Amino acid sequence: MIKIAPSILTADFAHLGAAVQAAAGADWLHIDVMDGRFVPNLTMGPVVVRSLRPLTALTIDAHLMVENADALIPAFVDAGVDRLTVHVEACPHLHRTIQYIKQLGARAGVALNPATPLVMLEDILPDLDLVLIMSVNPGYGGQSYIPQSTAKIRRLRAMLDQQGLDDVEIQVDGGIKTHNISTVVQAGATVVVVGSAVFNNEASAAENIASLRIAAGDLA
Ligand code: DX5
Ligand code: ZN
Repeated sequence: MIKIAPSILTADFAHLGAAVQAAAGADWLHIDVMDGRFVPNLTMGPVVVRSLRPLTALTIDAHLMVENADALIPAFVDAGVDRLTVHVEACPHLHRTIQYIKQLGARAGVALNPATPLVMLEDILPDLDLVLIMSVNPGYGGQSYIPQSTAKIRRLRAMLDQQGLDDVEIQVDGGIKTHNISTVVQAGATVVVVGSAVFNNEASAAENIASLRIAAGDLA
C-alpha cells in the first residue's frame, strides 16, 4: 500500500491548521522547509511545526531544502518532526548529518535533485531510512513531473533490492497527480509526496487523497 504524504506548501497558509486536519486520511505530512538560499523560496521553520504537531497524528516528514541543515535539525526534532530529509547537494558531511539525525531519535533521509546521480548515495545507502527522488526542481509546488524520474526510481529500486535494503523508503516528490501516481508506484516508490493535487480548489483534501489512492491501485 503506497504512503501518501501531502505537502502543505500548497495549502492555504491563512488556515494551515485546518488544512493539516483535512489531510488526516493521509499517511505522512510533508513539510517543505526552504531557506531562500539553497532554493529561491522561503517557507517555514520549527515554530510552525510546533503549532501543527498537536493537530495531527500523522508522521511528520520534514524536507530540508536548506544550506545549513545541521543547525536546524535539533529544533525540528524538538518541535515534533518524526523524519528529516536533507539534500545531498547541501551536506558536505552527509554521513555525520545522518548520524546526527538518528542520534536525536528521528528517521533520516537523503534527497537527490533531478540532475544528481544515484551514485552519490552509494556509500551512505545502508545508513538511510529513506531516499527522496525529486521529480521537480525544488522550490515550488504546482510544477510538472520530470519524466526521466521514473527510470531513476526504477534504478534506485534495483540498487536497494540488490543490497537487501528492503526497509529503505523510496519517496518521490513533485508533480504527482492521479494520472501519473501509478507510474511511480510501479517503478518502486513507497511514499509519494503530493502538494497541489491534494490542496486545490477542485475538491477537498480528503476527496483528493482518496482519488490518489484509487489511481495508485490501492483501493478497488
Ligand atoms: C518542491 C517540494 C514539493 C512540492 C510538491 O520543492 O519539495 O514537496 O511542494 O508539490 P506538487 O505536488 O504540487 O508538485
Ligand atoms: Zn518536498
